[in-house]
Amino acid sequence: MKILLLGSGGREHALAWKIAQSKKVEKLFIAPGNAGTALVGENVNIKADDFEALKNFCVDNGVNMVVVGPEDPLVKGIYDDFKNDERTKDIPVIGPSKKGAVLEGSKDFAKGFMERHGIPTAKYRTFDGTSLEEGLKFLETLKAPYVLKADGLCAGKGVLILPTLEEAKKELREMLGGMFGNASAQVVIEEFLSGIECSVFVLTDGKDYKILPEAKDYKRIGEHDTGLNTGGMGSVTPVPFATEEWMKKVEDRIIKPTVEGLAEENIDYKGFIFFGLINVEGNPMVIEYNCRMGDPETESVMLRIKSDLVDLLEGVAEGNIAEKEIEFDERAAVCVMLVSGGYPEKYAKGYPISGVDQVEGSIVFHSGTAMKDGEVVTNGGRVIAVSSYGKDKEEALQKSFTEANKICFTDKYFRRDIGQDL
Ligand code: AMP
Ligand code: GLY
Repeated sequence: MKILLLGSGGREHALAWKIAQSKKVEKLFIAPGNAGTALVGENVNIKADDFEALKNFCVDNGVNMVVVGPEDPLVKGIYDDFKNDERTKDIPVIGPSKKGAVLEGSKDFAKGFMERHGIPTAKYRTFDGTSLEEGLKFLETLKAPYVLKADGLCAGKGVLILPTLEEAKKELREMLGGMFGNASAQVVIEEFLSGIECSVFVLTDGKDYKILPEAKDYKRIGEHDTGLNTGGMGSVTPVPFATEEWMKKVEDRIIKPTVEGLAEENIDYKGFIFFGLINVEGNPMVIEYNCRMGDPETESVMLRIKSDLVDLLEGVAEGNIAEKEIEFDERAAVCVMLVSGGYPEKYAKGYPISGVDQVEGSIVFHSGTAMKDGEVVTNGGRVIAVSSYGKDKEEALQKSFTEANKICFTDKYFRRDIGQDL
């Protein structure tokens, strides 16, 4: 079959790497892709949200399946757009409908959904410009630290955790005053939860699901989780506290009611669900939903799926995922992200990257790279993920750190403490 994968980051290179291993795949296209995806498939110069161009490409090239990496095309309704077009209605799009993507696209919707289906999450209330005064009063009823979330998508920047009531009130005024434009026209205020986070992923056909390997990601730029938030500095799978018993709680209390809840609310959902969880005294609670895989979790999770991913994706498209087997690799897998100096603030692009061909035994996934005059250069904050297997996470991390040292570009930086908190 011919598959078109959408996106251009490390997540998409890892998905492309895994998809390309399937015997079922005759041709893999990636739109727009990056310098890494070009090594495992053919990049197509179309933006992931240019639906008309994507549909034309699929029709002209006999594409049999579209796999969506990032949330943006999903939130904009690519699933529905393909379905409502006579020419593309039979090409399955792996990802939820526009209604389903609202689980990620609106924090208020996600919280309401969890409330309706009895899914454990932090207590919350939502406010808008007309209820600012009530929001300020509500903050007074909570204990520090205070969690404020812009309702809409803000490229990972919409969550603020404030240590004092004074700061929380100031930020609430600013958010509702348009700090994130329309995305913060509504703000969710919620109770702060204390615990270690874990990302759990499922593939669902809307009725049944398969649970993928869980992972933990590292969001802050500095070692020991200090400094600004980033798109993710590394990931580790498996997560030691995600024991069989804990995962059973996740499945019974969170995964099942979510998939059933989507069906009950007539929300068409055939794709990945990403549960951002936090372990509160042994009990999993939901911090957020995403309607896609995580980045940089995918760069370790794909290593631990032994089964043919395309076979699972076909199960999603055909509605028979229950009949598919998913087998995990028993080894640990990790990813260490090499980033541009200065990231997540100002950083330079266009530096040549060398040493990738020296890497042995690890898998290199490109994140922010581009080809310039026949050379691979840095083209983003997060540049390259170095992913490795090991008998345990320590061995895998050692491998990634060793290989990461072989890759060179000006002002390269990576965290050397990935996985050490577990
Ligand atoms: P989100 O964009 O919803 O994933 O939030 C970003 C980060 O903020 C999460 O990964 C958590 O580390 C943190 N966070 C969000 N909500 C809460 C909460 N209720 N309690 C504690 N930390 C939170
Ligand atoms: N790693 C978190 C995310 O992809 O949103």
